[in-house]
Amino acid sequence: MEWVTEKLTGHVGAFLTGQQLNSLTDAGFNGLRNALFEHGVVVMPDQYLDPEAHIDLAKRFGEIDVNRFFNPVDGYPEIAEVRTKPEMTQVIGGTWHSDHSYDPAPAMCSILSARALPPYGGDTQFASMVAAADALSPGLRRMLEGLRACHTDASFGQSKVGLGGEPTAHREPVFHPVLIRHPQTGVQALYVNGDFTTHFEGWSAEESAPLLDYLYRFATQPVFTCRVRWAPGMVAIWDNRLVQHYATADYSGHARLMHRITVAGQPLN
Ligand code: SIN
Repeated sequence: MEWVTEKLTGHVGAFLTGQQLNSLTDAGFNGLRNALFEHGVVVMPDQYLDPEAHIDLAKRFGEIDVNRFFNPVDGYPEIAEVRTKPEMTQVIGGTWHSDHSYDPAPAMCSILSARALPPYGGDTQFASMVAAADALSPGLRRMLEGLRACHTDASFGQSKVGLGGEPTAHREPVFHPVLIRHPQTGVQALYVNGDFTTHFEGWSAEESAPLLDYLYRFATQPVFTCRVRWAPGMVAIWDNRLVQHYATADYSGHARLMHRITVAGQPLN
């Protein structure tokens, strides 16, 4: 049985049906992985993964990279809890970002499983950093190709969404190329994000800010995005080297619970 694939938008995202993630053959898993690399984010309805099946699926992609700031799910330290309580006005991940870009080897993919959804809202938006890189003018691309940018986990210290400002979890800032090559496919992608990138190497933060702000706005314009509307049992997997994502905080007064596993990646070139 093959995956049935339906593109979500012109540049990013695909809806995959026809197989169950908890009983994938090797061919089914390879099809899933290839679809992830092609579309940046893949969305599978009606999966209802329990924590064990979620962990087993993640391990097929690679080693699990436990997030050091999120609260774990009870009894499952590998799974991060992405919880919004009804009284919260901000949500985890409510700004454009790429998971773990502050690490020397940033997370390859994130696997998000819907556990409890609000009656409306709480969509996750994705923006293709491949489409953004592709649309840069040749002059700007040439300049960015010679640059690296600094990424830091410092923003977790100011978090107001129940994530740990735990001082021992913080690590030294790291540098990644502004335009990376995807480690598996070689496709070029823009790799700076508003949550974790602070400045260009050799530039001050003040000098970097106007160009970084331009790149964030440019890269997240609607034409490069798709929007995932969650349903019970749904699972989404995104490649953090290909897309940024944004959790939409539009369901104030309601609870939402997602389980997230991040899979280890490799240094970026
Ligand atoms: C995140 O991983 O940033 C959270 C995404 C979401 O809850 O929709």
